[in-house]
Amino acid sequence: MDPEKAHELTISLFSRFPGILSKMIGGELDSSKYNIFVGDLNWSFPVGLAAGLDKNAQAIDFFSHTLFGAVEVGTVTPKPQPGNPKPRMFRYIDEESLRNRMGFNNLGADVVFKNIKNSSRGDKVLGINLGKNKVTTEVDAYKDYVSLYKKFAPVGDYLVINVSSPNTPGLRDLQSTDKLKIIFESLIDERKKTPIPLYLKISPDQSFEDVGPIIELAQDFNLAGIIATNTTIMESRGAGGISGRLCSEKSKAMRRFVLGRVAGNKHFQVIGVGGISEFSDLWEFWKLGGKAVQIYTSFIFQGPGILEDIKNEIDKALIRNQVSTLNELLENIDQAE
Ligand SMILES: Cc1cc2nc3c(=O)[nH]c(=O)nc-3n(C[C@H](O)[C@H](O)[C@H](O)COP(=O)(O)O)c2cc1C
Repeated sequence: MDPEKAHELTISLFSRFPGILSKMIGGELDSSKYNIFVGDLNWSFPVGLAAGLDKNAQAIDFFSHTLFGAVEVGTVTPKPQPGNPKPRMFRYIDEESLRNRMGFNNLGADVVFKNIKNSSRGDKVLGINLGKNKVTTEVDAYKDYVSLYKKFAPVGDYLVINVSSPNTPGLRDLQSTDKLKIIFESLIDERKKTPIPLYLKISPDQSFEDVGPIIELAQDFNLAGIIATNTTIMESRGAGGISGRLCSEKSKAMRRFVLGRVAGNKHFQVIGVGGISEFSDLWEFWKLGGKAVQIYTSFIFQGPGILEDIKNEIDKALIRNQVSTLNELLENIDQAE
């Protein structure tokens, strides 16, 4: 089946039958064995759902009942927009990777807001990923982020400024420190009125030289952390962003860099995403000082079984290291084996 059709069908099933399907897939956790604090937020499991799979917040009820420790919806833009012409999602089955040039197709802030209001996620952490409309000029981009912050801060647990998608023309230009500064400054008042953890999602394609000052800026503005990374561009494969195993090396390198830079700041989180497809990726991230990750592409290829597999591997690690909770394991991760 065409990948986008398969995706739409799955989301529609998840949104119509959340109870039955999540029971069939299983995965509700009955203990605090796997929970970790990411900043102030209590993730029930160290793996969350990355943005872009539930763009319109239609399947929060379903995802909240899976093992995912947090669910990030969006990217949502202020106005609805159709995205780029189809086909715009491609599979590389042997390489467990995807290429997409969706272009922030979504139903817009009003509908996504209603969907969130009508959902019941229990105490599962909900992130909302925010992007600017394609028609919004670079100069006015900050206005989109301010209006989205205002609308979604009261209904989410954390928000994400997304300036790292390769599929909205000019969006990645907003990743320069002077342009990001304008966005962060314009958010100061709203953040005071409705404080909620705010993350910045970055691309794996920037040079470390450029990312260093962005990390400093994010800390200066008291962001909760950085989500590293979005998809990568591989010109040889065609237009769009590559995710899954093919983006793993670049994402990992960026995560390592960011974690190294913020190692001394206990109040600043790095959420790892990009090419995470098995427990060893998570382990490597923990060893570098990270805690929580997100997945998208490996969930598409492996299904919810990937979460079960990771849970089983965590169980083994707990036994091996003679501790009973993930928190204890992460406290002494340097010595863990
Ligand atoms: C089809 C598709 C659509 C995506 N849409 C978004 C999006 O709207 N916003 C966003 O921040 N990231 C989006 N992403 C990027 C993912 O959230 C993630 O950062 C990236 O795919 C790398 O993780 P992965 O290798 O686990 O897929 C999308 C990814 C895919 C494959």
